Amino acid sequence: MNVGFIGLGRMGAGMAANLLKAGHHVTIYNRTPEKAAALVAQGAKATVRVSDASRGEAVITMLTNDDAVESVTFGKDGIVDSLPAGSMHVSSSTISVALSEKLAEAHAKAGQRFVSAPVFGRPDAAAAGKLFIVAAGEPAAVAAAAPLFGAMGQKTFVLSETPKAANLVKLSGNFLIAAVIESLGEALALVAKGGVDQRQYLEMLTSTLFNAPVYKTYGELITGGIFEPAGFAAPLGQKDIRLTLAAAEDLRVPMPLASLLRDRFLTLLAHGGDNLDWSAIGGLAAKDAGA
Ligand SMILES: NC(=O)c1ccc[n+]([C@@H]2O[C@H](COP(=O)([O-])OP(=O)(O)OC[C@H]3O[C@@H](n4cnc5c(N)ncnc54)[C@H](OP(=O)(O)O)[C@@H]3O)[C@@H](O)[C@H]2O)c1
Repeated sequence: MNVGFIGLGRMGAGMAANLLKAGHHVTIYNRTPEKAAALVAQGAKATVRVSDASRGEAVITMLTNDDAVESVTFGKDGIVDSLPAGSMHVSSSTISVALSEKLAEAHAKAGQRFVSAPVFGRPDAAAAGKLFIVAAGEPAAVAAAAPLFGAMGQKTFVLSETPKAANLVKLSGNFLIAAVIESLGEALALVAKGGVDQRQYLEMLTSTLFNAPVYKTYGELITGGIFEPAGFAAPLGQKDIRLTLAAAEDLRVPMPLASLLRDRFLTLLAHGGDNLDWSAIGGLAAKDAGA
């Protein structure tokens, strides 16, 4: 397919590289143009205009937050202005449910298609083409995007025809991961201060009842204190809990644990955690314990 890719950050660079490997013609745009060089060497065509990355059958966005997605989509010569009628915008950033709804409406009004396709998996999974993709949108558009999903991910889940549902699912998943990070951090601080070897403890947990990737990945990061360089930066984790709470407020769903996690992220950021991985909230309990 002729596809544009906008946002070559930790996730986007690997995703765009896998589209190239699968044989798609990829036009890339990044706000900081220098980041395009490695992909140009792999066959991508770089452009310095959002509009020039939005003229194919599809354009994928993988950007920090709502503000970034709004500016490339609704700005002058942005995606809505440039995407041909019938072509699709595939939004893979973790954004608010409200913005997803706004995007769906704006693209429909312009005769364009919109598929919401946020992803699970860290930058290593993005580079390996092993993301889990949660897609929602009009069935024909989701089907048309399948070759792109196949290049970037190991499995695609289609849960709804309403795009914003995929964003709600993504936010709920990140809420669950953050809850695991916080609870693991507390449990590890408890046993460590009591004199138990954290690594043996983690090995016991993850080879028995907690035999799941999320406990293994984050358990290793917390026990090793490996919070730099960030794979998923703490301010983005804080954003996702904020967006979860906003969606919960709209739907009138109390989420007391999400409120607690919001404060854990604020504690981390207030103490200079901006450049750390979001798993660093799992190191707070040990600090609180003076361990
Ligand atoms: N990292 C993960 O593990 C992970 C996993 C799943 C989902 N996500 C989600 O995926 C998205 C991207 O995450 P990431 O880790 O790849 O972030 P990142 O490394 O910080 O990259 C962010 C990208 O957004 C661009 N950007 C930011 N503000 C912009 C603006 N106003 N206009 C145009 N471009 C702008 C950046 O351009 P510059 O290069 O110019 O700064 C960069 O290309 C986020 O929504 C995140 O929540 C991340």
